[in-house]
Amino acid sequence: MDKRIGILTYRGDKGFGDPAYLRRLVEEGMAMGVEVYVFSPQDVDVVFRQIKGYEPFGAGWKCKWREWPDIVIDYYRYYPLEKHRQYLPIRQGSLFRFANNRFANKFLVHQLLEQEPELNQWLPETVPFSKRNLGDMVKRHPRLYLKPTNGTGGRSILRIERKGERFLLCGRTKKQGQKNEILSNITSLSQRIKQWTEREKRGDEMFFLQQGLDLNLLDDRTVDARLLVQKDGQGKWRLTGMGMRVGPVNSSTSNLHGGGTALPAGRFLSNRFGLDLAELIIYQCEELALLTVEKLEEHFGQMMEFGFDLGIDTEGRVWIIEINPKPGRDIFRKLGQLERYQQAVRRPLEYALHLLEQDSVVSQ
Ligand SMILES: Nc1ncnc2c1ncn2[C@@H]1O[C@H](COP(=O)(O)OP(=O)(O)O)[C@@H](O)[C@H]1O
Ligand SMILES: [Mg+2]
Repeated sequence: MDKRIGILTYRGDKGFGDPAYLRRLVEEGMAMGVEVYVFSPQDVDVVFRQIKGYEPFGAGWKCKWREWPDIVIDYYRYYPLEKHRQYLPIRQGSLFRFANNRFANKFLVHQLLEQEPELNQWLPETVPFSKRNLGDMVKRHPRLYLKPTNGTGGRSILRIERKGERFLLCGRTKKQGQKNEILSNITSLSQRIKQWTEREKRGDEMFFLQQGLDLNLLDDRTVDARLLVQKDGQGKWRLTGMGMRVGPVNSSTSNLHGGGTALPAGRFLSNRFGLDLAELIIYQCEELALLTVEKLEEHFGQMMEFGFDLGIDTEGRVWIIEINPKPGRDIFRKLGQLERYQQAVRRPLEYALHLLEQDSVVSQ
């Protein structure tokens, strides 16, 4: 029987959030002989059990009523705002079979992983933001990061650097405005951060403080690694690829959406650390990602893919910065690794088909 895969994502007045990727996903589906269409919560007609499904058409999209999908991949980037109110009822109800389980916000994920003795060593110290925690953390770490629990693309992140008695702030607002400031004491720092959290928060999200890592592998630039781990067509975890991201000069983040550029991991790390240490670093990144996904599935059930943001500090030590359940994979396209990019796009589809096959075995 022919299978039908629905891709659930947000579509607002300006269209889909990540149209280039969605376009490629539908095209790869077609090439695999599978029907794939994209839809948003407002396209679901529960009464007649049909979906207004989208597919690429010329430079844009066309839509038509489609049959119900056998399985749905959830690529919706939800955060608690009015425009997303239709998402949760769809995600939490039993309307669809989902290929990927839901995940938690990054602070909760960090708290869960901290309890795993094998993973603890990779995790920077992380605490909720409060005046007291700030006072405590600035004493112990020369730099700190303040981050919102539901952030993406480096938005609303502040780096706090202690220079003698003073504090240097560097960050980017949710509207991409650059923020640089010097504060002369801890009281004004604390007030400024409180103000920042109130202005920058989306819905009722909270902010947390994290030990800041020295990721300046190039002068005045934040550099980190993105590693993509995905389930394959047999349901096994596989390392799809890894690349480095280099932030703009003096930026506190490396995100490609915040102006970062991509570089190949092997070449970059061996230039910086020499071949032997570079190999060891890459090996550690891969091992820790595979170990982490195993632990994550114990908490969240079967997952489909993760993009790991990994810090490699100037000493060559590896850290887990963030684990993204709905990761971008553009880094491979930007690196010109086109086969890898194709694999990164296809694997979720192959895994979704694998789940359907398993369902049919169970029901026979
Ligand atoms: N603790 C930290 N130390 C040093 N750099 C950090 C730290 N946390 C985040 N960064 C930098 O900021 C970027 C964005 O942070 P991240 O937690 O991944 O949030 P987002 O969801 O916005 O991508 C990271 O990729 C890294 O370059
Ligand atoms: Mg990130």
